[in-house]
Amino acid sequence: MKEVVDYLKANQDRFLEELAEFIKIPSISAHADRRKDISKAAKFTEKQLKAAGLKNVKQYPTKGNPVVYGEWMGAKGAPTILVYGHYDVQPVEPLEKWKTDPFEMTIKGGKMFGRGTSDDKGQVFIHFKVIEAYLKTVKKLPVNIKVIVEGEEEVGSTNLVDFIKKHRALLKSDTILISDTNMIGKTKPSITYGLRGLTYLEVSVKSLSGDQHSGTFGGGVANPIQVLSELLVKCKDPKTSKVKIPGFYSDVVPLSRKERNELAKIPHDDAMYAKNLGAVSTFGEKGYSTIERTGARPTFEINGIWGGHTGAGVKTVLPAEAHAKVSMRLVANQDPDKIAKAFKDYIKDITPDTVKVDVKLYDNNGYAALTPLTADGMKAASTAIKKVFKKDPFFTREGGSIPVVADFQHLLGVDAILLGFGLPDDNLHAPNEKMDISQFRNGMQTTVHFLEEYAKMKSAG
Ligand code: BES
Ligand code: MN
Ligand code: MN
Repeated sequence: MKEVVDYLKANQDRFLEELAEFIKIPSISAHADRRKDISKAAKFTEKQLKAAGLKNVKQYPTKGNPVVYGEWMGAKGAPTILVYGHYDVQPVEPLEKWKTDPFEMTIKGGKMFGRGTSDDKGQVFIHFKVIEAYLKTVKKLPVNIKVIVEGEEEVGSTNLVDFIKKHRALLKSDTILISDTNMIGKTKPSITYGLRGLTYLEVSVKSLSGDQHSGTFGGGVANPIQVLSELLVKCKDPKTSKVKIPGFYSDVVPLSRKERNELAKIPHDDAMYAKNLGAVSTFGEKGYSTIERTGARPTFEINGIWGGHTGAGVKTVLPAEAHAKVSMRLVANQDPDKIAKAFKDYIKDITPDTVKVDVKLYDNNGYAALTPLTADGMKAASTAIKKVFKKDPFFTREGGSIPVVADFQHLLGVDAILLGFGLPDDNLHAPNEKMDISQFRNGMQTTVHFLEEYAKMKSAG
């Protein structure tokens, strides 16, 4: 193991240079005109896996973006770990809020800035380089490894489900390792055991065939922005923040007393939390703590709303239409399709007949996922954390989503160990995304220990 650790130390600078090349590729899956960059990022990933020494490295085309695969199956009798990550990134707008070029990785104060440094290019790099370190030094890994890196996570992994269904044998493994989440803090290491699900929709309200003069026609017909606002207000109780869509909570598995007690042990200060966000105060569903509300309870959020005149100055206009994008974060056992339908039905039901309404479902639904704390691999992960961070990890539930985790569970019957090295202030999906170099380095060390521990544990029994 010493050679591996030494190799990781000795090659730090080169790793950062290579990561900078990866960051340079604007592989934004949400933008159709970035298909070339998606191909470039897939090609780059393929090259990295080959350079790491993996075998059978290839790209699998899908109906969308390619999945890159590689494996090393030389550890006879040892368990197999499926490593998953994504090479696609989120859009970078608003560009003017970035202090550095999002696609020129910039190192400042021990942090690497750039789109994808934390989500998820920087974190998959941890895996690439740990594998490389083993295969270049001791020429073997303690476990068998299969790696898949996809290019559609940020748009809901739409085509990955088909890929998994088609390649069950190829993906057969004992556990899944994913580094695409955060820790509570540099000195507060944690392992994520829950992810929320998601459904994403757009509501459009139309009342006229075209915009009109608000003086001539205002008062004569319904205003679509007004109506849309009224519809959205009816989705959530302003006092309790309970979602008012009928059936929304029907399938939610209630939090047990025991789990609530455990979650209450996670270090958290509401005032600090609000301050760090520049928020006036915390707010959310009555009866639950902030930790519970952001990880273990479902929510309804308006992501964007537009219509009418929003440009400079005054324009007295009666708009013809109004739109809103809304999403709901879900928890076990909510079915995203069922929730989307409940929302659609509810909106249709409460829309006045003075306007036309249309509800469109986006293609990035996903189930919530929970990894049992007793899962194989949780123990190895916590031992690995303890060795590197010198502290026992906290166990947290992440409010974000990685839709494929539930698909892995359902289709392959394997749990995922969410051993992520991001930090809450990494600015994921936002301007000035960064990853701390110390987290990158400790992430590699932790991953080495995880592989060793997992191999040891499985061979011991
Ligand atoms: N890596 C994130 C998930 C995540 C978010 C982990 C926040 C830790 C903190 C992942 O790339 C992501 O952003 N998922 C999307 C999924 C969606 C687009 C289907 C999300 O949660 O919004
Ligand atoms: Mn991610
Ligand atoms: Mn993301």
